[in-house]
Amino acid sequence: MYLNLKELLKKYKGETGIGAFNLHCMEMFPYIVKGAQKTNSPVIIQTSKATAEYIGLDWLVSTAKLYSRQIDLCLHLDHCTDIGFIKKAINAGYSSVMYDGSYLSYEENVKNTIEVVNYASKFNVSVEGEIGNIGGSEDGIAEKTNSIVYTKVEDAIDFVDRTNIDALAVAIGTVHGLYNGKAKINFGLLNELTDKLEDVGMVLHGGTGVSDEDFHKCAIKGMMKFNVGTELNKSYIDNINKDFQSATPTTSLRKLLNNANESIEKIVEHRTNIIKL
Ligand code: 13P
Repeated sequence: MYLNLKELLKKYKGETGIGAFNLHCMEMFPYIVKGAQKTNSPVIIQTSKATAEYIGLDWLVSTAKLYSRQIDLCLHLDHCTDIGFIKKAINAGYSSVMYDGSYLSYEENVKNTIEVVNYASKFNVSVEGEIGNIGGSEDGIAEKTNSIVYTKVEDAIDFVDRTNIDALAVAIGTVHGLYNGKAKINFGLLNELTDKLEDVGMVLHGGTGVSDEDFHKCAIKGMMKFNVGTELNKSYIDNINKDFQSATPTTSLRKLLNNANESIEKIVEHRTNIIKL
């Protein structure tokens, strides 16, 4: 079924955390779905603005709706700072969007997030917001884990109250991209956040490099959406680098992509399995 983020989180609360996988190219789409199906899990497929522009909003929405006949699926726009583009994605049929105003002053972030929520609610589209600074890079460059600005509980409560968002990206010790060191997750902070904000879906960003044990522990402690991006990109490139070395112009391109595609399925299968409760 094609669901928005709020509906998806509500349906699976107490049963499983939900994997949100960043799509980097069209080929990955069916393999993300297959991986989630292996563990009977729902799935969130998310794109950056750049990926959405590369592939095309209409292709993404049509494909998401096609696959949602076989699986509970949400199509989400990840980390978007451009409200005009968010509206385009909503108009095209995305079921969920993230407005990222974490780089702005707190008050500006609140104001812009409210604008996005007001627009999205007319189309039954969910909204994820962010406060604090998760840090890191989506381009494969690691950030030191000691540069994170942890989410303050009182800010999170105020932000959710005023914006009415459905999901909140929290900075609890993970960073985007490849880690320089092991992620130091502040489980005490996560406990406090999930205790005080029961009605909003808590989102873990920077899933790449977080250990299986920590992933599972976050799910137990009430984290609901688990973002994984770099791990898919890295695995795809590692496989392509290896397999294309011996390619000639007549080698089947399809066969050359086999290992890369299957690696996506395996990562999604593994990650969705460890966030089950
Ligand atoms: P990683 O690339 O570190 O897995 O993070 C993905 C993410 O949080 C996307 O918003």
